[in-house]
Amino acid sequence: MARYRYPRIPESEVTPRELFESRRRLLRGGLALGAAVVAPGLLGSREAQAWQDLLEERLSVDLPSRELADGESLTPRRDITTYNNFYEFGTGKRDPETYGHRLVTDPWSLTIEGEVDKAGTFALEDVLAGQRLEERIYRHRCVEAWSKVIPWVGFPLADLLKRHGPTSRANHVIFESIHDPDNLPGQRRSIIDWPYREALRIYEAMHPLTLLAVGLYGEVMPNQSGAPIRLVVPWKYGFKSIKSIVRIELVEERPITSWQARNPDEYGFYANVNPGADHPRWSQARERRIGESGRRETLMFNGYADEVAHLYAGIDLQQHY
Ligand code: MTE
Repeated sequence: MARYRYPRIPESEVTPRELFESRRRLLRGGLALGAAVVAPGLLGSREAQAWQDLLEERLSVDLPSRELADGESLTPRRDITTYNNFYEFGTGKRDPETYGHRLVTDPWSLTIEGEVDKAGTFALEDVLAGQRLEERIYRHRCVEAWSKVIPWVGFPLADLLKRHGPTSRANHVIFESIHDPDNLPGQRRSIIDWPYREALRIYEAMHPLTLLAVGLYGEVMPNQSGAPIRLVVPWKYGFKSIKSIVRIELVEERPITSWQARNPDEYGFYANVNPGADHPRWSQARERRIGESGRRETLMFNGYADEVAHLYAGIDLQQHY
């Protein structure tokens, strides 16, 4: 299918100043934000279309250079989509690719509730209507000491949260993945207490680096990568970046997340990438970049310290990992 390509728009014209400036900082840090996509009025009300068709049009972005500033390069799409953690499909790295077709992504709705002025359940196409999508190239570091560099397409989670008006008691944001044991073979096993559940502090959720991603490599999100909408928090271990989200709840008290419930000694709430704080069963000092030979040094906050270290001033990150 021929896809409409949006004309390239100078980023300085379409990117909010805050993001544009952080992009320049990020480029120095070895990663880039790509072309922003502006699609005002694209989701016209004339006809209802399958949201995937709309997304396919909207995700036709020009990818930026494959070479990143400090010698890192994008992980090939094939490696990004054939080596996955998505336990709803099983614990094998290839299970998500093998069984991914069983995930039903259309229709999809997102419930937003709790400490917000505007709670409700919304069709995904309405969540995305008028939303500016942009490409962000982020490092992605799993707690298991492997990593990738991924060109996500998405939008800041803050955009969505602001639209729903968090109340003054909204200190934490909980995310929940789809629960569909009939179609998701892993959910018929007691790997975790399903559904997969994660959470962030509100200031982490509102941080401009925190994305809701709906695609990668300029295309609609592959099922195994967390279709149709997933979280991406690049300075934290990958298990925080919950896939296939159906529910977001803003709450006052800090909740217990899936991995904490399963093993609190191994998986902390913050889960910030930290080469100086080893996992009880392995070192976090180095990582295996998928598609490369050898190992790389792991960077504090996964290389995003300039952007996020201030969030944790005064917190002992060895104790509160
Ligand atoms: N989200 C859900 N719903 N289920 C999962 O099993 N795995 C997490 C995270 N999000 C997971 C999830 C882990 S451990 C990692 S490392 C990343 O997704 C992996 O993302 P990727 O497969 O796109 O690399």
